[in-house]
Amino acid sequence: MNINLAMVGSTGAVGQEVLKILNERNVKINSLKLLASKRSAGKTIEFRGEKLVVEEATPDSFENIDVAIFSAGGSISKILGPEAVKRGTVVIDNSNAFRMETDVPLVIPEINPHAIHKHKGLISNPNCSTIQMLVALKPLYDYSKIKKIWVSTYQSVSGTGTKAIKELKELSQNALDGKELNPKVYPKAIAFNVLPHLDVFQPNGYTLEEMKMVNETKKIFEDEEIIVEPTAVRVPVINCHSEAVTIETEKEITPQKARALLDAANGVCVMDNIEELIYPTPLDVAGKDDVYVGRIRKGFIAQNALSMWVVGDNLRKGAALNAVQILEYMIDKECIKW
Ligand SMILES: NC(=O)c1ccc[n+]([C@@H]2O[C@H](COP(=O)([O-])OP(=O)(O)OC[C@H]3O[C@@H](n4cnc5c(N)ncnc54)[C@H](OP(=O)(O)O)[C@@H]3O)[C@@H](O)[C@H]2O)c1
Repeated sequence: MNINLAMVGSTGAVGQEVLKILNERNVKINSLKLLASKRSAGKTIEFRGEKLVVEEATPDSFENIDVAIFSAGGSISKILGPEAVKRGTVVIDNSNAFRMETDVPLVIPEINPHAIHKHKGLISNPNCSTIQMLVALKPLYDYSKIKKIWVSTYQSVSGTGTKAIKELKELSQNALDGKELNPKVYPKAIAFNVLPHLDVFQPNGYTLEEMKMVNETKKIFEDEEIIVEPTAVRVPVINCHSEAVTIETEKEITPQKARALLDAANGVCVMDNIEELIYPTPLDVAGKDDVYVGRIRKGFIAQNALSMWVVGDNLRKGAALNAVQILEYMIDKECIKW
């Protein structure tokens, strides 16, 4: 099955990673249309030895397109997503626009690929911090139901896109040079700082990023009872999110058992040997496909508690790779049409 693919947001941090991954995994596509804003129209990007010209994304861009990966922000998805679907295109959307809609599958291929078959033209990629947490927890959940999750995130600036990477570099240099720090992308300076504030605050005092982890976990695990207690924090790291995760399970999972379950799982790599100072960090994991887990230990907070440290490349498994895996699944199972 050869498909015509469009990439909306092809000049962005996630879009560029999608192109890299399509190439690395040799995904079989018939044609690729690169779309972005008017600002980028006419730029060229090399893909598989060919110079492709970026076009402005408009409703008509999706004529004769089988699948479009959207990575241009929620407002663009809300406008152009339905236009693409109207033209018979399946949309794999990286934004928050449709994730919690009941008839839109929210998919992590290692966890709930079955949901893809129910799509009606729209499929959502979950939030990056949710993806890496659930990829690490699914093998444990399959052994014993997880009742509660406590998570603190340490999220990199590439999660906010190319402008945020530039801001971290510029403000870091300004701070070293003793110059004034004038943040534009974030509400406070991110250089040499940490911000307990991702996305907008909600009436309940949590941020939207935190509530994405709460709600998306329930939808993906198909478990309305699971409790997630999140604190999401932005840190001055270019790429890869880290998470301190503690779970309470119904049945005890010893650290040794957890390591064995995670070792056997797809998409997870155990990097855990404190005697040798082996544990994952963002610099170890950048550019890798797997979600890395270390510091696995018995927790204090409940009878059956287990704590761990989870690191994933937010641009890859947190966004681009997950979208490409959904595409590969649809090609393999021939479930593009609905
Ligand atoms: N970064 C991550 O780790 C991550 C993880 C999960 C999900 N996401 C989601 O992915 C999306 C993109 O994130 P990003 O990090 O790649 O952002 P980014 O680096 O800022 O890139 C944004 C892209 O959207 C394009 N765009 C902007 N306005 C547009 C318009 N009016 N029409 C068409 N295209 C337009 C931009 O094109 P121009 O170059 O022409 O402006 C650019 O290609 C967001 O929804 C984000 O929440 C990101």
